[in-house]
Amino acid sequence: MTRRWPDEVEDLLDQEFTLHRNTADDPLNQQQLKTLMEQVDVVGVTVTDRLDASVFDVPDLRVKLLANFGVGFNHIDLEAAAAAGIAVTNTPGVLTDCTADLAMTLLLMTARRAGEGERELRSGGWSGWRPTHLLGSRVSGKTLGIIGAGRIGLATARRARFGFGMKVLLNSRSEVPAEHLNELQAEQLPIDELLQRSDFVSLHAPSSAETFHLIDQRRLALLGPSGILINTARGDLIDEAALTAALRSGGIAAAGLDVFEHEPRVPAELLECENLVALPHMGSGTVETRTAMGMCALANIRAYAADERLPDLLT
Ligand code: DGY
Repeated sequence: MTRRWPDEVEDLLDQEFTLHRNTADDPLNQQQLKTLMEQVDVVGVTVTDRLDASVFDVPDLRVKLLANFGVGFNHIDLEAAAAAGIAVTNTPGVLTDCTADLAMTLLLMTARRAGEGERELRSGGWSGWRPTHLLGSRVSGKTLGIIGAGRIGLATARRARFGFGMKVLLNSRSEVPAEHLNELQAEQLPIDELLQRSDFVSLHAPSSAETFHLIDQRRLALLGPSGILINTARGDLIDEAALTAALRSGGIAAAGLDVFEHEPRVPAELLECENLVALPHMGSGTVETRTAMGMCALANIRAYAADERLPDLLT
């Protein structure tokens, strides 16, 4: 395993297999990953590992399965893995609710300026209640645009619609099933129109060549000065330089980010923006969910060991 997993899962792995742990729990470099590919049958990988074609290009490739701890797999070159005869699995479904909860956390924090308020209070700068202090924007009745209408996007939409009385607009590469549109009383729109008509926009699309810098300077301008952007998907969906400029100039009102383009590095200029709420990639970060993710990866590893169909096979 390239990182530590929740104890409950590691204990089971340890009982059932010969387990090699990265006890330091720091990210492995490319050379360490290559060495691992020659030493074990299964590697438990995660988002901090860069598994490109060069990693599989080793003289004595042994690995047969990459069991990814996470639903996103943009850090793995699936084509190169398949060409090297390596199966790849992920952990879909089990982190839907937690990630949607965090998208709502960011939406509420940005709308209500919670980060600014907490910083003010902790720094001793709060001078007391006054009618014009830290005014944010109301959430109820506002319009939320969701880009990426998969499991997490729809779970976020449900929270917004039924929990906060928001109107929902959806954007998706494929046609959103009528049952979802009816349930949410939502419309499916092209991205540009969705940005123009939304007060809040939450990103839930996967990272790919197609979605790289999907939100750029032009699209931020479409969201406009009262718009709020939320991202719990992947950092490279947003052009961070353009976002920084828009946050500084008032081109948009605020942003709530849980993911960044070059994690764990976050540009200093972006962090200087008071109207940014920034969290360290913790969308799935609950005990229950991280354990469920580990159990899901374990189910795939067990299936591989038993020569059975892998439940979450990607390639
Ligand atoms: C996921 O599951 O994709 C999380 O972002 C961690 O990788």
